Amino acid sequence: MLRRAAVLEDVRRLGSLVAHVDGHTLALFADGDGVHAVDNRCPHMGFPLHRGTLSGGILTCHWHHARFDVATGGTFDQWADELRVFPVEVRDGEVWVDLAPLGDPLALRRARLGDGLERNLPLVIAKSVIGLVEGGADPVEPFRAGLEFGSRYRAPGFGQGLTMHACFANLLPVLDPDDRAHALHQGLSALALDCAGMAPRFAVRPLPGAEKDVEVLTRWFRQFVEVRDAEGAERCIASAVRAGADDPQLGRMLFAAATDHRYIRTGHVLDFTNKALESLDVVGWDRELAERVLASLATEYAFADRMEESNAWRHPVDVVAIVERAFERLPPALPAMSRSQRHSLRPGPVRTRRCCSERIRRRSRTIWSTRSSRGLPSRRSRPPWSGRPPCGSRGSTRRTSSPTGTRRCTPSRSRTRCTRGSGARLRASSSAASSTPR
Ligand code: FES
Repeated sequence: MLRRAAVLEDVRRLGSLVAHVDGHTLALFADGDGVHAVDNRCPHMGFPLHRGTLSGGILTCHWHHARFDVATGGTFDQWADELRVFPVEVRDGEVWVDLAPLGDPLALRRARLGDGLERNLPLVIAKSVIGLVEGGADPVEPFRAGLEFGSRYRAPGFGQGLTMHACFANLLPVLDPDDRAHALHQGLSALALDCAGMAPRFAVRPLPGAEKDVEVLTRWFRQFVEVRDAEGAERCIASAVRAGADDPQLGRMLFAAATDHRYIRTGHVLDFTNKALESLDVVGWDRELAERVLASLATEYAFADRMEESNAWRHPVDVVAIVERAFERLPPALPAMSRSQRHSLRPGPVRTRRCCSERIRRRSRTIWSTRSSRGLPSRRSRPPWSGRPPCGSRGSTRRTSSPTGTRRCTPSRSRTRCTRGSGARLRASSSAASSTPR
C-alpha cells in the first residue's frame, strides 16, 4: 500500500515537512541519506511533531519533551505512547510511504494498559481503555486485567483501589456505552494508585493432598482469623476455592469470620468482601482468579481492628453491650418483620447482591424514562459533574422538588463557602494539568 508522499529534494532542503496522504498527516524527516515518516500527532497529547527536533536518531517532541526512536517509534518516556512510524521507500527522487494498517491495534492497547497499571499512569490507562472499548473489546476484559493486577501487586491484599474498581464495574450495565470507558478508567486508575510503590503479594498455596471439607475449612478459617494468623487464614480460603466451594459457601465462610467480632475495621472488611465477590461475579468465577482474589482478603481479616477492643466503644458508654442486647432480641423479632425487611437480613450474599443490582437498574430505567417523557435532557447530555449538585457543592445538600416534579439538589444554607462554578474551575485546572506530562 505504497503512496507517494513528497519530493526527496524538498525533504532534504527543509529538514522536515508535513505530508497529507490518504487521510494521514505525516511528518517526514531527512536523516543522513534516508528519510523517516511518522504520524505527525505526538502520541502523548497531540503536539505536531514536525516542530520537534530530530537528533542522533531520537525525535523529541517540544511540548513535554517525550523522546522517540524515529526508526521504530518506540518511546523512551513511558508516560507518552509508542509513535506510529511508516516504512519509507525512495524511488526516482520521490518519497513513498507504506500506509498498511497495523497488525493488531488491540494487542498494543492491552500491553499499554499493563504499562499504565504498573507505572500508575492514568493518562496511559485512559488511552488504553478507550482504545480497547472503542476497538470492540468486551469491557470485562480491562476490568479483569485490573482485578488480576490488583490482587497480585499489592502486598497487603484487597484494598480501596480494588473496591472502587468493583464499584465502577457495577455501574457498567446501567451506563451509556459511551460512558463505560470513563467508568473503567476511574476504577483502574484508583487501583493503580493503590498499588503504586507496593511490594507484590506472594500467594499461599492450597493444602496438599485430597480436597478438604469446606465446613472444616470454614471452622479453621475462623480460628485462624481469631488468633490473627493471616497465612493460616489464607491457606483455608485457597483450599476452599480449590476444593470447589461455590460462591454461597465461600460467602458464608467469609462473612461468618467478618461478623465474629463487632464492626471490624469500621466495616471495611465487609465492604472488601462484598466487592471481591461482586468482582468475581463480573468476570465469571474463574477458579484460579477466585483463589487469588479471595485469598487476598486474609490479611485484612486477620489484622482488622475489633471495635469491642476499642476504648471509645467501651467507655463511657458500653456500645458492645447495647449491641449484644439487640442481638438477643433479634430472633423473636424476626417473624414480626415484613418480608422485605427479613430479606435484607438473610444470609447468602449472592442473592442480596443480585437483588440490589436489579433494584439499581430498575430505578435508573424509571428515572431516565421519566426525564425523557418530560422533555428533560437525556442521559447522554448529562454534564460531566452529574451526580453532584450543579453548583459543585458536595455533602451538605438538601433535596427539593422542582415545579416539573423532578428532584434536584440545592446547597445547604448552612454552607459558608460557595463552590458555585467549580465545574468551570475544574475544567480550567484540568487543562492546566494537561500541560504537564502526566
Ligand atoms: S504532546 Fe508530545 S510530549 Fe506531550
